[in-house]
Amino acid sequence: MTTALAVRYTAAHTLEIGPASIRPPGPGEVEIAPAYVGICGTDLHIFHGSMDTRVKTPAVLGHEMSGRITRTGPGVTGWQPGDAVTVMPLRWDGDCPACVAGHQHICQHLDFVGIDSPGAMQQRWTVPVEILVRLPESLALDRAALVEPTAVAVHDVGRAAVRPGERVVVVGGGPIGLLIGLVARSGGADVRLLEISEHRRSIAERMGLSTWNPVVDDVAEAVGAWTGGAGAEVSFEVSGAAGGVTTAVDVLGVRGRLCQVAIHPRPREIDLHRFFWRELTLVGARLYERADFERAVVLVADGTVPADLLISKVVPLAEAAAAFDTLDKGGDVVKILVRCA
Ligand SMILES: NC(=O)c1ccc[n+]([C@@H]2O[C@H](COP(=O)([O-])OP(=O)(O)OC[C@H]3O[C@@H](n4cnc5c(N)ncnc54)[C@H](O)[C@@H]3O)[C@@H](O)[C@H]2O)c1
Ligand SMILES: [Zn+2]
Repeated sequence: MTTALAVRYTAAHTLEIGPASIRPPGPGEVEIAPAYVGICGTDLHIFHGSMDTRVKTPAVLGHEMSGRITRTGPGVTGWQPGDAVTVMPLRWDGDCPACVAGHQHICQHLDFVGIDSPGAMQQRWTVPVEILVRLPESLALDRAALVEPTAVAVHDVGRAAVRPGERVVVVGGGPIGLLIGLVARSGGADVRLLEISEHRRSIAERMGLSTWNPVVDDVAEAVGAWTGGAGAEVSFEVSGAAGGVTTAVDVLGVRGRLCQVAIHPRPREIDLHRFFWRELTLVGARLYERADFERAVVLVADGTVPADLLISKVVPLAEAAAAFDTLDKGGDVVKILVRCA
């Protein structure tokens, strides 16, 4: 390789391509050649400029990745150049109240790699070994870029404590909602997915997930018919829309659990009377823990996650900016990967 390249976010709606800042791995670090990097909703929030107070520009984005180790730093054992890896992109301080309580993934001073520190959308990337997650050689690297969003879904389904046979409504069929539907179904749940995009509903149907369109279908009536008037045991709010919150409350039966996954930039109105009346529970779910990540590797490798249906497009590094624009315009896409090699 002549010069390693990086894509950097410099200002709202602006990504620039230029030389990567190559740093030889120090003690406890490895250098990776990222192969594929997925673009996620949070990357789009950054692209819009909505996270400018948090993101230091110029910023290399990217936290859904796969690649191979190119060099190991002094004292690194157990990892070799050529090893296939992804990263769990979280670094914590280890001594805040959240960490001490055992919830390092939501550390009060969390460094989310790819947002708070440089990410993977570049051809060489130096990271600490603690964040590495090993990938099986049998898993193609493009598919492996789906491990991180799958880990989100595994964590969410775990937070909602979904049990076999329970009826689950997923509100919002973007990449995360689709993955929650797949993970819940693999655990024996009966899933219905609500999504307004026809393209995304068709992808869900091809995955074997039943869908409703909240714009035309009478959701209350459909849920009533499906559950014999009882309502669902679990709902996931993954749309980020005010209407999605209302729906996620309305579909629940007595003692139902609503798992809040989407990021809402502002407070939303919620029907607390319904919470009182039906003894509902609201549970938040953020990111993932190690065990979620390791489970996600298995689910992507064994085909529970149908990568071919989720990955709509793979673009070279030079076309990353255009890919952000496509996602931004809400085209007929689910997941776009950037190929770094
Ligand atoms: N909790 C976490 O740690 C975590 C991790 C990753 C992403 N997220 C958040 O989860 C959300 C989903 O992520 P994504 O990548 O799938 O985003 P996305 O924007 O691609 O998906 C949201 C989907 O909801 C649909 N939608 C909008 N309004 C709707 C409504 N009223 N009813 C039904 N569907 C509706 C949209 O058409 C879209 O397909 C985002 O808010 C993202 O920021 C949270
Ligand atoms: Zn901490």
